[in-house]
Amino acid sequence: MCGIVGYTGRRPAGPILLDGLRRLEYRGYDSAGIALTDDDQRMYVAVATGKLDALVQKVEGHYPPATSGLGHTRWATHGEPSDRNAHPQLDPDGRVAVIHNGIVENFEALRAKYARGPFASDTDTEVLAHMLATRVEAGLDLLDALREVVGEAEGAFSVVVMAVDQPGRLVAARVGNAGGIVVGVGDGEHLLASDLNALLSQTRRVTFLEPGELVDITADAVRYVDLDGADLAKQVEVLSYDPVSATKGPYKHFMLKETFEQPEAVLNAIRGRYLVHPHRVDLSAELPPERFSETWARDLSRIVIVGMGTSMHSAMVGRHYFERFANLPTEVDNSSEFRYRQPVLDERTLVISIAQSGETVDTLAAMDEARRAGCTQITICNTPGAQTTRVADGAILMRVGPEIAVASTKTMLASMVLLHSLALYLGRLRGALSVETEAQQVEAVLRLPSAVGEALDLAPQMQALAEQYAGAEDFLFLGRGLGLPVAMEGALKLKEVSYIHAEGYAAGEMKHGPIALIDEKMPTVALAPQDDVADKMRSNIEQVRARRGEVIAVVSHGDRGLEGVATHLVELPEVDALLCPIVSTVPLQLLAYYIGLSRGADVDQPRNLAKTVTVE
Ligand code: AGP
Repeated sequence: MCGIVGYTGRRPAGPILLDGLRRLEYRGYDSAGIALTDDDQRMYVAVATGKLDALVQKVEGHYPPATSGLGHTRWATHGEPSDRNAHPQLDPDGRVAVIHNGIVENFEALRAKYARGPFASDTDTEVLAHMLATRVEAGLDLLDALREVVGEAEGAFSVVVMAVDQPGRLVAARVGNAGGIVVGVGDGEHLLASDLNALLSQTRRVTFLEPGELVDITADAVRYVDLDGADLAKQVEVLSYDPVSATKGPYKHFMLKETFEQPEAVLNAIRGRYLVHPHRVDLSAELPPERFSETWARDLSRIVIVGMGTSMHSAMVGRHYFERFANLPTEVDNSSEFRYRQPVLDERTLVISIAQSGETVDTLAAMDEARRAGCTQITICNTPGAQTTRVADGAILMRVGPEIAVASTKTMLASMVLLHSLALYLGRLRGALSVETEAQQVEAVLRLPSAVGEALDLAPQMQALAEQYAGAEDFLFLGRGLGLPVAMEGALKLKEVSYIHAEGYAAGEMKHGPIALIDEKMPTVALAPQDDVADKMRSNIEQVRARRGEVIAVVSHGDRGLEGVATHLVELPEVDALLCPIVSTVPLQLLAYYIGLSRGADVDQPRNLAKTVTVE
């Protein structure tokens, strides 16, 4: 969850590190810090509590022109956000600096065994600096010292270290699945980062560390080894990711920008996958027929989709598609539950994981479970090169550009579209889908980018509703069928960006408890498009109204049937009923955004959250 960046080369490291941290701030923003070493074997360290700006104010114009260093933005796990708990953490003599993402689970035992002096922080990280300093002092090479140290540390984490008497050198290790390390290869320089965003303004030539691998970089050399010290060869990949899309442009917040990018995001997700002549879906580029054959597809007995948060909500939409188009029983599971409940899996189960980051620790652990059981795995991901894409047998990339706001928007829409495409593709491979249904669905999807654009035209209405309801302390979101995941997503978005308590509920469940909450102070958002459960939703809305609850009903294009029943109608653009979630999510994103804005919340970086969740 923390952001990591490192640089060694010929340019002053300070500005490069701050630029990298700026691009990583969405990962964690409790505190930040940098350490630089120069050729005179001096270490410059600066940390600041709070957002990155606090650090920038402290260091800009003050740091030495050192050409190597490391930087960190923190999402606190051990110890409150404070200067003393900020990274880099040092050994008592200030000879070794460590930045770290993830958790060292046995840090207390290590502290008891390896303390070189009193500990200055509450972190699980500091002991690593003590352990390294002892080994480096004893003459061990920094890479070997780090290998030994991570060999004793339990848990999943990534770590980057630097020693004052070895300027120009950074060593990093990835242990388990607590977020990756990307190595950037420049001209006479090398970089390290916890994710691509931090590197792409400097280089597009990268390699990725796998769990159990270490890297040792200087300006001119890079060496990869495994935990036993054996050398590894890695191929440099050249990425075509667009760093420009990681800027806010004219928008006040990334969340708004990313919400408004959704027509293009959907277009990018469908391009080359939904074909016009003939109307069919083609995923053979991502799922090569030699591996994902008709025989394989016909032999599948069921699907399990795993993900967390927004990704799990899109999985819930996907379940409907797989059951309908591919005729396969489909379960959806929260990755963190799935991984610990000994799920029954076999070679005929297809496990689909969804993760915009591709680094979510619970989803990676769920994938490990699936791998152990011999399941075929397909992942849907927005981050080229992310760990999920390397673990899965097949990866379908969202191609929507970096999503910076902590609250996911465009990646939810892309995930739903890609699940739809995968369901159609599997359905055809299995012989479960008629040519007519596939053609009709492809036709409907090709209209989606403009329908999503029309949904954005609801912004003024959603802004007005937001102003009306921004004072509410509780919200209920109700849906049935394909509307349920949208209701859950609407509630999650609102919680994240406005700090209003919100519940996303199956409308049928309302009478079994939540109805007790309804009064004139608790607004309800009801997903009520014209589908096969529309009548049931109407009854639920009437039940809320009968208890003086106000209802914002999200309804189909031109449907005035709830006029005089619901308090407000939000009319969706025309869209195929099965694709409705992809459009109806949009006004709920806008509602959450504008309510957050009205309440003065930090919409892009909500308190306590981080974009990529790499700790349990
Ligand atoms: C979305 O708004 C959330 N910030 C969060 O629930 C997110 O969807 C979740 O952490 C999963 O992330 P992933 O897709 O990168 O795995």
